[in-house]
Amino acid sequence: MLSSIEAVREALAGEGYIADEHLATTVFLQTKLDKPLLIEGPAGVGKTELAKALAAATGRRLLRLQCYEGQDETKALYEWDYGKQLLYTQILREKIGQLVADAADLDEAVDRIGAQESVFFSDRFLASRPLLEAVRSDEPVVLLIDEIDRADEALEAVLLELLGEYQVSVPEIGTFTAKHAPYVILTSNNTRDLAAALKRRCLHLFLDYPSAERELEIVRSKDTGLNDAVAAQLVDVVRGLRDLDLRKAPSISETIDWARTLAVLGVDELSAKVLADTVSVVVKYDKDIRKSLEALPRLVDPNATVPTTAHNGHDHGHAHAHGEHTHTHESADTEAEPDGSAVREAKDKPGRFTDGYYGTPKKNASLGRRRPF
Ligand SMILES: Nc1ncnc2c1ncn2[C@@H]1O[C@H](COP(=O)(O)OP(=O)(O)OP(=O)(O)O)[C@@H](O)[C@H]1O
Ligand SMILES: [Mg+2]
Repeated sequence: MLSSIEAVREALAGEGYIADEHLATTVFLQTKLDKPLLIEGPAGVGKTELAKALAAATGRRLLRLQCYEGQDETKALYEWDYGKQLLYTQILREKIGQLVADAADLDEAVDRIGAQESVFFSDRFLASRPLLEAVRSDEPVVLLIDEIDRADEALEAVLLELLGEYQVSVPEIGTFTAKHAPYVILTSNNTRDLAAALKRRCLHLFLDYPSAERELEIVRSKDTGLNDAVAAQLVDVVRGLRDLDLRKAPSISETIDWARTLAVLGVDELSAKVLADTVSVVVKYDKDIRKSLEALPRLVDPNATVPTTAHNGHDHGHAHAHGEHTHTHESADTEAEPDGSAVREAKDKPGRFTDGYYGTPKKNASLGRRRPF
């Protein structure tokens, strides 16, 4: 069915997922080479959605492992169904009693029970979790291992056998090998580096923010109710916001939300005022909002004469819609905090939200806008 790159693109589009050439090519290769696909990229660019669309397009069942810190392999691979084992021993108490009734001593009784152990550590009492389930499934599946960078490195090691050979070993039973190679998609927000051994086993795709053309296509495909001309302008504004040094840059999903919001408000022409009134739909941090409010007049109308003061949103002369967005604690926030990113970095957990994290300010990016002394 996914016989060409174009066929992949069409199949995904049929499920509402707009893929560019590069993405469609990678997915095509994944299906042909039977290799897992590791997608890295900022939040909200369609990593998870790709797995869902691929499952829907191929009619495969989607199995999802959502990773989190401290997750252990029993929740990812399999565990023994302790409750069921206990229930069986209760019901079979008499039978077990008979087994050891004529044992000469405790040692012999334990040996006899031990000889029956395999009954209780058999398929019957095995509770499959997503990874084993994907391998054991009779039907081909799509396996989504979402946000692998949130899990501990130990889980990555657990994945290696699965990703390399599509098999899972259960010491008490043996090795399960997949009847049909699953399409495996791993996603990462790149909050930490993944092991080289894991990367080596996967095709790799860096999914970045889309081109203006593709983003507009995505927004249009969502039937937001916003007219095309306004949507095109909105996409440009969002792209402009992404160029600011925001802590969290707006993603595709936020562009869609903004388009819906503006459609609900019946907007048929963009103005700095209406964008400022609704900017909190796309920008979620206090300081980011201030920076955005400052930039919006320029983004919506490049000819607007607005002084570009990057470091403080409240010492400039132009009138923009501060009303609802004025912040009462700004003096503490802006004046006592000359370098917000340094303060944040000190608070953030090591390894997360550092320079490698998407959306953090690029150190030199604001130099060009600094005011002359
Ligand atoms: N190529 C696309 N085609 C259609 N919709 C898209 C596309 N990319 C993103 N979207 C939209 O953006 C939303 C967010 O995408 P998704 O949840 O897959 O992001 P993500 O990359 O997994 O983000 P996170 O890292 O935060 O989990 C989707 O629900 C979908 O509506
Ligand atoms: Mg996701």
